[in-house]
Amino acid sequence: MVQTKPIIGYLAPESLEKDLEQEIQRHPQLELKHQIARLFLAEGPIADLAFCQNIWCEPQKFTIDSISQTAKKLREHGKLWAPLSQGFHRRMTLIQEQLPKLKSQPLTFPGSWPERELGAWTLEDANTLWLSPKTSSPFANGEVCFVENREAPSRAYLKLWEFFSAQKICPQPSELCLDLGSSPGGWTWVLAGLGCKVISVDKAPLTPALAKNPLIQSLKKDAFQLDPKSVGPVDWLFSDIICYPERLLELVHTWIEADLARNFVCTIKFQGATDFEALDKFRKIPGSRIQHLFCNKHELTWSLIRPRN
Ligand SMILES: C[S@@+](CC[C@H](N)C(=O)[O-])C[C@H]1O[C@@H](n2cnc3c(N)ncnc32)[C@H](O)[C@@H]1O
Repeated sequence: MVQTKPIIGYLAPESLEKDLEQEIQRHPQLELKHQIARLFLAEGPIADLAFCQNIWCEPQKFTIDSISQTAKKLREHGKLWAPLSQGFHRRMTLIQEQLPKLKSQPLTFPGSWPERELGAWTLEDANTLWLSPKTSSPFANGEVCFVENREAPSRAYLKLWEFFSAQKICPQPSELCLDLGSSPGGWTWVLAGLGCKVISVDKAPLTPALAKNPLIQSLKKDAFQLDPKSVGPVDWLFSDIICYPERLLELVHTWIEADLARNFVCTIKFQGATDFEALDKFRKIPGSRIQHLFCNKHELTWSLIRPRN
């Protein structure tokens, strides 16, 4: 019997299609077979690609001729469906109306990550349906949405909310967090709000309201000049510094070698083209993961989460 390799669908975040395409092409086990706008179909095992917002685990293609036949096909293959509308919007709306209603409540933080199984579907053309009864995200097209908080000093807080919610992990009250590149203070605000002690480091000042919080120690310094030994052991190291990926990598290695930080959550930012060589170096750090949060722009979140000794 001839064993065929599975085809998996990867949905690129909006405007990052080229990055996902390059990531697939660079992956040793994947072969790009087909592209439908932001959806890339690749042969090979399910891969943990960074520039991916949702994985279509079991994509299948059908020829269809009517709206009701398409809706029937979808109902036969699964219960709950999220449309990926990339064209044929009117036709897709009419089909979706014939499917069970998809309720999407914005998340609260802290709160629980929904566990529901969600299918995804799209029309490649008026007669071609692609569906996947299983996807990696419980949110339609991986679009995570929170009940927002207007008191936060910046919208960057949403990145940490999403990271903690999706990973089902949160710094515990009284853990010590080092927040590098912290101004105006969105991440520091989240961490202090969880009851953590925060050492907040930036060359720019924190929002004045935060500077008065007794849980927060604010250092007006260059994060790259900070000697880990002068800070001592921390439970979490966060970095949202605007810098080249190689510079962040150096900083991360300094802290790993000093063995003074247990968990890391760092934003890798790109100015212009994505630095895939630097990403490969981050990936080589054992136990770490790189992902594109829905709240990330042209940037990725690198993390290393380790158990307490
Ligand atoms: C995207 S902002 C951080 C936003 C912040 N995480 C928040 O939640 O509000 C990036 C920050 O990196 C800081 N930064 C850039 N280079 C730095 C350096 N060498 N040392 C410390 N901070 C730096 C900038 O001053 C800026 O405030």
